[in-house]
Amino acid sequence: MTSGGDCPGLNAAIRAVVRTANNRFGYETVGIRNGWKGLHDGDVIPMPSKSVGGILNRGGTILGTSRFNPVHDPDTLAHCLENIALHRLDGIIVIGGDGSLSAGYELSKHGAKIIGIPKTIDNDITGTDATFGFYTAVQTVTNAIDSLHATAESHHRIMIIETMGRNSGWIAVTAGIAGGADLILIPERPFSWEKVCQQLVTRHEIKRFSIVVVAEGAIAEGEGIVTSGQLDNFGRPVYGGIGYRVAREIEERTGISTRVTALGHVQRSGTPVAEDRLLATQMGVHAVEAASQGQWGHFVALRDGHLRTVSLSEMKGKTRYVDDRMYEIAEIFFG
Ligand code: F6P
Repeated sequence: MTSGGDCPGLNAAIRAVVRTANNRFGYETVGIRNGWKGLHDGDVIPMPSKSVGGILNRGGTILGTSRFNPVHDPDTLAHCLENIALHRLDGIIVIGGDGSLSAGYELSKHGAKIIGIPKTIDNDITGTDATFGFYTAVQTVTNAIDSLHATAESHHRIMIIETMGRNSGWIAVTAGIAGGADLILIPERPFSWEKVCQQLVTRHEIKRFSIVVVAEGAIAEGEGIVTSGQLDNFGRPVYGGIGYRVAREIEERTGISTRVTALGHVQRSGTPVAEDRLLATQMGVHAVEAASQGQWGHFVALRDGHLRTVSLSEMKGKTRYVDDRMYEIAEIFFG
């Protein structure tokens, strides 16, 4: 099952799970379509080895996905558990982000046999050093920064690039370092308008252009998160718009012409880069091996370059934030 927001590398993980289960262990595999909603609706399809041919390099997920909470209420939970029995599922491998894996943990407390594979472009899952999908998103943002340099320099402008990253700024800070951003604003570090404008004005006296990367969850000191006004299926606000807010404020305060590029879902889509395909494949294989050993209630994590399994209870309700050292490195290049 793939669940939650999609990301590049999901198909590589599906392929790895199916091929390992079939070819190495001789298990029968089925796919649950559209995440936890598919389990609730009994949307289960056969997935023989040949069903995952030709998908390694494709973005998105052949199984479909959704944001659906299987433990939202007792009836939904009971229905999901009934379908596990009805379809005779001996175990479920859930490829998901923090919400989907946390839901998996809750189900496992009710007897469901779950193993998680962490995925998200945000790279914010506690307990693992990396999630697949992240590397492609970073490459997409880095390419955008590279492209925008020319027009920024020609027009002597400030270019704001808004990235995804709800609660943590991993994409913004990593791509910002790789692309040579002059300022990076992330949720972990509420910023001051005065300081931001001062830094940009000083830089413009010499360089006359700037690239500013802003994570969608970044906040100005004393202000709230900028949202689109919509709610997702979990009832969470859909983020977006901070780039325009920052541009307006900077232009008003400094008089420097400022433009915005909000990258949005282009970061989640497209062909996965090699690192994401590799990590997804390794995690898929590891997840099936863990299932063969009965390590239910765990997820596959990358720690210090090695894969291992970690209890789902360790990630539930937590966020992995950008560490101070990473931001310190980025800051050396500001201004
Ligand atoms: O969780 C990953 C993520 O890409 C966040 O960075 C972003 O806020 C969210 O998904 C947007 O998801 P959607 O548009 O699918 O609601």
